[in-house]
Amino acid sequence: MISVSTFDLQSFLRAQHARVEALLHARAARLEPAGTPSRLAEAMSYSLMAGGKRLRPVLCLAFADAISRQSSNSSVADDAACALEYIHTYSLIHDDLPSMDNDDLRRGRPTSHKVFGEALAILAGDALLTESFTLVASGPEPVRVSLCRELATAAGAAGMVGGQVLDIADDRPAQMDYLTKMHAMKTGALIRAACRMGALAGGGGPEEVKRADAYGEAVGLAFQIADDILDVTGDPKLMGKPVGADAAAGRHTYPAVIGLEASWMLAERMVSDAVEAVAPIEGRGGPLAVLARYMVERNS
Ligand code: IPE
Ligand code: IPE
Ligand code: MG
Ligand code: MG
Ligand code: MG
Repeated sequence: MISVSTFDLQSFLRAQHARVEALLHARAARLEPAGTPSRLAEAMSYSLMAGGKRLRPVLCLAFADAISRQSSNSSVADDAACALEYIHTYSLIHDDLPSMDNDDLRRGRPTSHKVFGEALAILAGDALLTESFTLVASGPEPVRVSLCRELATAAGAAGMVGGQVLDIADDRPAQMDYLTKMHAMKTGALIRAACRMGALAGGGGPEEVKRADAYGEAVGLAFQIADDILDVTGDPKLMGKPVGADAAAGRHTYPAVIGLEASWMLAERMVSDAVEAVAPIEGRGGPLAVLARYMVERNS
């Protein structure tokens, strides 16, 4: 068990980030040899290897490690972690398209459609989405079936994609219950799946998956509130994407609907709920508790 006093968030994040980069790199390197046209492999890797925070894979691996009580060396957890980042990256490529948020900058670089054109950007997103399931489904372990279902449900029509639809609806009401539902689907579902998949990949039973679920639900909401707040208060240089885009597009965000102060308080409450949920798994002040706090205290 790692205590608060010895636990260093920055070095933990650096190590986990490097771990995820290596896992993603190894998988991206297999695309061309497996027959992917080089232009498509280039477009997929351009967005995938652009240096995001890798929060979803880090959460997945952190749960797998906490539950299996070791730095997991399991290819199941590694594949699940990478699949989550594939899906997340595809969602960003499509989210930035002219027909969606029409953004020019992502992860500090020109967006995919700016570099490769809209058609290839759409196809790179499609390919990342589909390949994520190749990753999770390739291996003999029976748990991979559950992991596929978790990923599909979270990313699909009643999850992330449904949430994107609620976000762009012309008739969306500026009401808390709509906002909460939209966020739970748009961003929350995949973050929650990251936690549940990590618990499953680490060999967790129903009680542990339930705790991962509660943590993921709270942290997912806190994360999206922070994303909304950063769109108002953030530094575009640190964030690698423009700020003020939500207000410019007339988006209903937490700061717009309940104000900045109340948004912060809600995010804080979610962090406390998340920390409580994982105390029986890792004790107090372990990696999962510290990651929950990082979700809202990040500056990018
Ligand atoms: C940004 O996600 C988009 C949302 C889902 C709110 P991240 O903030 O995790 O983006 P990266 O992966 O670090 O670029
Ligand atoms: C993106 O949400 C959510 C998904 C891609 C599922 P946003 O549109 O709020 O994300 P940013 O602000 O462009 O990163
Ligand atoms: Mg959007
Ligand atoms: Mg956007
Ligand atoms: Mg946003």
